[in-house]
Amino acid sequence: MLHIENLYKSFGSNAVLKGVNLHIYPGEILVVVGPSGGGKTTLLRSINYLEKCESGSICLGNNYLLKDGRYASKQDLKAIRRNIGLVFQNFNLFPHLSVIENITEAPTRVLGIAKEKATQDALNILGFLGLSGKANSYPYELSGGQKQRVAIGRALALNPKLMCFDEPTSALDPALTDDVANLIKSLKVKGMSMLIITHDMEFAKKVADRIVSMDQGQITNEHMYDNEKTGS
Ligand SMILES: Nc1ncnc2c1ncn2[C@@H]1O[C@H](COP(=O)(O)OP(=O)(O)OP(=O)(O)O)[C@@H](O)[C@H]1O
Ligand SMILES: [Mg+2]
Repeated sequence: MLHIENLYKSFGSNAVLKGVNLHIYPGEILVVVGPSGGGKTTLLRSINYLEKCESGSICLGNNYLLKDGRYASKQDLKAIRRNIGLVFQNFNLFPHLSVIENITEAPTRVLGIAKEKATQDALNILGFLGLSGKANSYPYELSGGQKQRVAIGRALALNPKLMCFDEPTSALDPALTDDVANLIKSLKVKGMSMLIITHDMEFAKKVADRIVSMDQGQITNEHMYDNEKTGS
């Protein structure tokens, strides 16, 4: 589903990604752990073309976002990026928009989906997320866990092939962390491929098919944990 090869990225003289190689198989949940400053968020942002890399390749399905240091055309980048959903650590909801508006914003603006259809789809997503009653609430009226679910809903509204999460549980208490773990598992049942960054090993073990570690700009331990082999 996602192939990253030999990816390099620096901020000025600070080399942050130093030859990252990473592969996510269709339907797989890959969790990346590792020390602060290791480049995890930068990697996630690079996959979403929020950061530009100097060299390497990023391929989603059969479509190269970046091939041997060369980016796809603007049009192709846009098309490829639509297949990737990103949920930020701090949720990044639009504070002046209601829950339903937060979710329908991208489908109507980016995909040109009619408002009625986007609203119906958003209501279905809210149902799936257990937030049917919150469609007309504003972000400030929601708990942290609810905001997190709306942020996930917003990413799902673009019907992505790959979902990326940066520290999805860092703002949540343990009970809400379990809710997010269950939500991620139910996305897996639907066939979603996922890349999850976390510091929380308990959470990682609950959701991961595979856990890899990232340190100093490289994937350092490709097979730290493999759920299929351990059966746990
Ligand atoms: N926009 C930026 N400009 C300059 N340097 C940056 C920028 N973003 C990240 N960095 C640097 O890149 C390095 C990796 O940061 P990154 O946020 O990717 O780490 P991380 O693994 O996500 O850490 P954490 O676990 O604390 O979230 C750090 O040294 C950081 O200072
Ligand atoms: Mg980070």
